[in-house]
Amino acid sequence: MAGAEAGMVVLTALWLMLPAYLSNMLPVVVGGGAPIDLGRRWRDGKRLLGDGKTWRGLLLAPLLAASITFALQWLVDHTAWGQAYGFPGWGAWPTWFVLAYALGLGALTGDALESFVKRRTGRDRGERWFPFDQLDFILGALLFGFLVGPAHFLALFTWPRLLAIVLLTPALHLLVNWLGYKLGLKAVPW
Ligand code: CTP
Ligand code: MG
Repeated sequence: MAGAEAGMVVLTALWLMLPAYLSNMLPVVVGGGAPIDLGRRWRDGKRLLGDGKTWRGLLLAPLLAASITFALQWLVDHTAWGQAYGFPGWGAWPTWFVLAYALGLGALTGDALESFVKRRTGRDRGERWFPFDQLDFILGALLFGFLVGPAHFLALFTWPRLLAIVLLTPALHLLVNWLGYKLGLKAVPW
C-alpha cells in the first residue's frame, strides 16, 4: 500500500509539473529569432545571455505548454478514461491556465537566469553545468507558480510532491535531452 501511495505521489507530481516540463522542452522547436539580450554584452565582454535564449522561446513555449495542458486536463475531466484514471484537476478556468502559464514562464525565466550565470562564469552556450541545467527551471517554475497564487499552489504542490519533483526532475531532464539529441533536435546530448 505504501508503494502504491508513493507511486501516486510521483505520478501526480509529474502531472502537475507538466506545464514546466513542456515549456522547458518546446523552445528547441518554437524558439529562434531575436535573442532576449538583443546581442548585448556584459562588462566582461561576453554576451548577457547568448543566442540560446530567444524571445520566441520565452513567450511562445509557456503559452503552448499551458494550452497542451489544458487540452489534456479537459480530456481527463470529460472522458470515461479520464474519470477512471485521471489525476486531480488544476482548478477552475482561468485559475489553472494562469498557474500553468506561470509554471512555464517561471521555468524559462529560471533557465535564462542560469544562462546569465553560466556566461559570467565563462561557460559557453550549450556547455553543460550539472546540476544547475536540471534545477534552474524547476526552481523558477515553482517560484512563479507560488507567486501567482500561494494558497492554490500549496494545495496542489504538497511537500511529498515537491520532494518527488526535486529528486526526479534531474534524471528526467537528462533522459529527455538525450532523446532530443538522438532525434536531432538538440546539438548536444545534455
Ligand atoms: N531556446 C530558445 N529560447 C529560450 C530557451 C531556449 O530559443 N528562451 C532554444 C535555443 O535554440 C536553445 C535550445 O532551445 O539552444 C535549448 O535550450 P537550452 O539547453 O536551455 O540552451 P543552450 O543552447 O544550452 O544555452 P545555455 O548554455 O545558455 O543554456
Ligand atoms: Mg542548456
